[in-house]
Amino acid sequence: MIIPSLTLEHSSKTTLPGLREALRALPPMPPALSFADYCALPADQRALYDQARDDFVRLTLRVPTPEQDRSTGILARLIRTNPRRTNSRRGLMISAPLFYGKTELAMLLARSVENDHAKHFPDYADDGHVPVVWVEMTENATGKTLLTQIVRFLAPTAVVARSSNTDALRVEALKLLSVHRTKLLVIDEAHHLRGTEPSSVIKALQNESSATVALVGISLGSGKAFGSGHGMQVTMRCDMVELRKVDVSTKEGMALWTRWVAIFDRNLPLCDHVPGTLTLNAQALHSATHGRLALLAMTIERLVASILDDPNRLDEQVSRDQLFAVLDGLQHTTPLRHRVKLKDLVEAA
Ligand SMILES: Nc1ncnc2c1ncn2[C@@H]1O[C@H](COP(=O)(O)OP(=O)(O)OP(=O)(O)O)[C@@H](O)[C@H]1O
Ligand SMILES: [Mg+2]
Repeated sequence: MIIPSLTLEHSSKTTLPGLREALRALPPMPPALSFADYCALPADQRALYDQARDDFVRLTLRVPTPEQDRSTGILARLIRTNPRRTNSRRGLMISAPLFYGKTELAMLLARSVENDHAKHFPDYADDGHVPVVWVEMTENATGKTLLTQIVRFLAPTAVVARSSNTDALRVEALKLLSVHRTKLLVIDEAHHLRGTEPSSVIKALQNESSATVALVGISLGSGKAFGSGHGMQVTMRCDMVELRKVDVSTKEGMALWTRWVAIFDRNLPLCDHVPGTLTLNAQALHSATHGRLALLAMTIERLVASILDDPNRLDEQVSRDQLFAVLDGLQHTTPLRHRVKLKDLVEAA
């Protein structure tokens, strides 16, 4: 049996090789094995198989969301129209509280822009095209930090002197974005960009470059960075996509949540897996994760890890006890509190 093995060499998406590696890291589900066949594998093959299953859950197992459709549509329109505007180019804001799937959504958009560019220009990488630039802000980031990261991403060997002034950096960043035909500039953790200076730098980038800017961060519409003052100038030039928890008291919300749980349930890469336990407990999963997709995904990841990490397991069926242990564990490692008890969970027949 050939077990796919993924090599990841870069630790950050804020370099071009790192971003490209992250965009391509979508390992397929490894071939299904019965538990008996799995046990018969040599130890190193079993470890490889576990690694491949773990990678699949962490990197590939994703569910479609309404926000993906909305933001893909908005971004495609902006990328089409921004180069045809001479003023007031528009950007995209992806906003949500902490740990809601913001970065994951931005990655999906980045991947679709990169893939779309590759369809039109198959040799784009050799020709020096960089359709997507990805930067990440940290506490107290300034407009100058932002410009420096853009320059470093596109020209990693260029020496950016500490003394370079913001104007010179802006000119350099704009030149590089144009030369490399960048279509999308993702600024993750954008809530760190507070004050007049970052806002005026972003506004200048929008005015002077036809690349579409996507700002990704915590509560951007209402936070200190872009919810008031000069930041409003940026917000008003952006389409806003907000990620929310799912409200299962509505018919649509219930249908969406059940669909997500069913997708996770169907695709658990466990030996002899029979879907059922997750789907039967969709309501309890909603209560325990407060309807948040990112926490549901975290539950699934931990559930699979807890099964694969047990060296004494006799099978890989998902049991009610294992699921409860993971849901209970959420309360110790996240600020999340819930009232789901073991008796609330149902075991698949
Ligand atoms: N559509 C999806 N399907 C499955 N899992 C998802 C999906 N979107 C997000 N996740 C998972 O949710 C978790 C959190 O996602 P992400 O890191 O994007 O959140 P975030 O809002 O950027 O967090 P932070 O506020 O810490 O930056 C990740 O493990 C991610 O894989
Ligand atoms: Mg994030």
